[in-house]
Parts: sequence; structure tokens; C-alpha cells
Amino acid sequence: MKILITATLLIMISPFTIASEGEAIYKNVCSQCHVMQMGWQIKDKSTLKAPPFPGVTNAVRRAYGNEAQFVEFVSNYIKNPTRIRARTKDMAIDRFGLMPKNIGAEMSKEERESIAKWMFNNVGLD
Ligand code: HEC
Repeated sequence: MKILITATLLIMISPFTIASEGEAIYKNVCSQCHVMQMGWQIKDKSTLKAPPFPGVTNAVRRAYGNEAQFVEFVSNYIKNPTRIRARTKDMAIDRFGLMPKNIGAEMSKEERESIAKWMFNNVGLD
């Protein structure tokens, strides 16, 4: 995954290492399918490839209340998504299909945890 390697290199030379690693992963990987607008802000939903990120984050945050459990769920889910694990409504899965398995497969545990932590603390809060 070239994009991810580039992102990692950028992070290594960045002074904001921990704060921006999750965001860099979102921009390079997750935003290929997820968008940052809330569902109601999107006029034409026909081009969406995945449920909007704030909604996904809020649904998982509601299901898991605390950061440790959220991070555990998300960092595992992106490596191995399954229908049983999925917290989003069946409707989302019926419409978009399950998230592809290979997304987090080449990411390190540290990378998977840093995107999850960044989501928990930054996405869908307003
Ligand atoms: C190739 C498209 C694609 C990419 C890239 C992608 N996702 Fe997804 N994601 C989906 C789809 C489709 C769903 C809705 C179905 C589902 O829940 O699996 C989803 C759902 C999710 C969910 C909800 C799981 C649940 O409980 O239902 C989480 C969390 C998530 N994505 C996180 C991420 C993160 C973090 C990244 C980046 C590392 C990412 N996704 C990249 C397509 C993608």
C-alpha cells in the first residue's frame, strides 16, 4: 500500500507525530470511501461509497461509550470487518456492502489504533 507508506514517512518527519497520524491515515485511506459531512448535509447521496464518517463514528461511540473499547473495536474492525461485528445498521451494509477486508490488513497495530483514537476524539462531536 504505497499511499500508506508515504503517509507514514510524512508522519515520521512531522513535528506533530501523534496528533496527526490518525488524521493522515483518514485522509490517505479512509476518505477514499467515507466522507466527513453529516448525512443530512449531503444533497446527492448517490455517489457515496460508504456511510458518512461522523455517523459511523457516532454509532460506534454510542455502542461502546469509552475510548479503550472504541479503539479496540475499530482497530479490529478495519482489519477484519464482519457483519456480526458491525454496529452500523443493517441498512448501511445492505446498501454499501460490508467494508472490504483489505483496508487495515497492511496497517500496523499502532496505525490502526491511532486512526481509531483520532476518530474517537475528533469525529462527529459537533
Ligand atoms: C473501500 C471503501 C472503504 C474504505 C477505504 C474504508 N471504509 Fe469503513 N466502511 C466502508 C463501508 C462500505 C462500510 C459500511 C458497512 C460496514 O459497516 O462494514 C464501512 C463502515 C465502517 C465502520 C462501521 C463499522 C460498524 O460498526 O458497522 C467503521 C468503524 C469504519 N468503516 C472505519 C473505517 C476506517 C477507520 C477506515 C480507514 C482506515 C475506513 N473505514 C476505510 C467502506 C470503506
